[in-house]
Amino acid sequence: MTSPVRLALLGCGTVGSDVVRLLHEQSADLAARIGAPLEIAGIAVRRVGRDRGDLPVDPALFTTDPLGLIKRDDVDIVVEVVGGIEPARSWLVEALRAGKSVVTANKALLAEDGATLHDAAAEGGADLYYEASVAGAIPLLRPLRESLHGDRINRVTGIVNGTTNFILSAMDATGAGFAEALEEATELGYAEADPTADVEGFDAAAKAAILASLAFHTRVTAADVHREGITEVTAADVASAKAMGCTIKLLCIAARNTDPAGRESVSVRVHPAMIPLTHPLAGVGDAFNAVFVEAEAAGQLMFYGRGAGGAPTASAVLGDVVAVARNRLAGVHAASESAYADLAVRPMGEALTRYHISLDVADRPGVLEAVAGVFARQEVSIATVRQSPAGGGPAGRGSDAELVIVTHVAPDAALAATVRELRGLEIVRSVTSVLRVEGGA
Ligand code: NDP
Ligand code: HSE
Repeated sequence: MTSPVRLALLGCGTVGSDVVRLLHEQSADLAARIGAPLEIAGIAVRRVGRDRGDLPVDPALFTTDPLGLIKRDDVDIVVEVVGGIEPARSWLVEALRAGKSVVTANKALLAEDGATLHDAAAEGGADLYYEASVAGAIPLLRPLRESLHGDRINRVTGIVNGTTNFILSAMDATGAGFAEALEEATELGYAEADPTADVEGFDAAAKAAILASLAFHTRVTAADVHREGITEVTAADVASAKAMGCTIKLLCIAARNTDPAGRESVSVRVHPAMIPLTHPLAGVGDAFNAVFVEAEAAGQLMFYGRGAGGAPTASAVLGDVVAVARNRLAGVHAASESAYADLAVRPMGEALTRYHISLDVADRPGVLEAVAGVFARQEVSIATVRQSPAGGGPAGRGSDAELVIVTHVAPDAALAATVRELRGLEIVRSVTSVLRVEGGA
């Protein structure tokens, strides 16, 4: 057999330790698939002395000098599972420029400054693979990057954050509020001690940027993504969604738009939204991820599976390692990132969406007319209106009523302006819930 392909592993935490385990357990199969054995040349960590249990690896391989490891002549491929922007970016640029292929799970870096990595890969004639960076184990980026390259993708809608999906699923199942569901997620180990990146939507926004870049051949960064988390979602919102035959999910939505003059652009957003129970994403529960792709010729495609965890993420990392190792042995590298379309990214105000609005209003003549007038002024068309006594019971609360209005599609700025104006009406006691509606409910 050919001489070994040698890996520098940067990071040996949740993901890295499972990469080591799988490399050990599957070494014979991996060697047969690649045509050469894989060997770990070294493992860079922060604390060499950390207890790593029964990890099947020689302790002498650990080092606190990632750059020194990357620069070694006997390293062919760099696998980065540390995370963060720096020093990871400097390490990977160094490796790629030196012609060493890189496999990374680092969504934050790819979303913040993927262009620098892609440019370095092109400069060094090296591969840059990052399947694990979005939706963990789910084979998703390779289909977008390769299998669907003959097609035209119009929309990608995904549940790409397991922690928030667990929380929203728990709220839906039990009627619990956000804080209670977050506590459960933390106790069960789904949510991290600091859940900000997940619950505020930063993690999903990074993944949305990566998906949009691949789907639309356009460089989209995390800064281009409109982001709202789930901290404001209430038990009342979840109940309203149920009443409509819907459920609430934190969605990442990347859509191609064409204006009347035929000019194309994209909008990329992450926010909670109501989707009908009949939508394929509605049944994605627990901490699972799923991504729904709509392409011109292929039609609708759904990718589903585990979006996080050591072993699932390591599976995606190793799939990439096999691909780049094979390329290396064949003396080739994959085509560089395609950003030829270079579409403009629209601001959120121009994104087309629908709103579900619940209002507590005075129950007297002229109220409906006043409310409808606000929608008319903002050029937002109402799809449905439902009125019931406030509080949901037949007796209501004195002279108040609850109005539930669902709009047709309109620019987000017009919908937001409608809500602002409604809040200012004397007959509107309160706007009790505002949620976007996706998926044709
Ligand atoms: P962990 O925090 O569990 O592990 C990080 C590893 O990096 C540790 O081994 C740590 O060393 C090492 N490290 C940290 N700083 C340095 C440094 N300056 N120099 C050298 N080594 C360093 O992270 P995860 O394994 O959870 O995540 C790794 C990457 O994978 C991230 O980019 C994350 O976003 C991504 N990812 C993670 C998923 C998951 O489910 N965990 C899912 C999908 C992607 P030490 O062991 O000594 O502390
Ligand atoms: N925190 C992320 C999640 C991990 O909850 O999905 C995977 O990126």
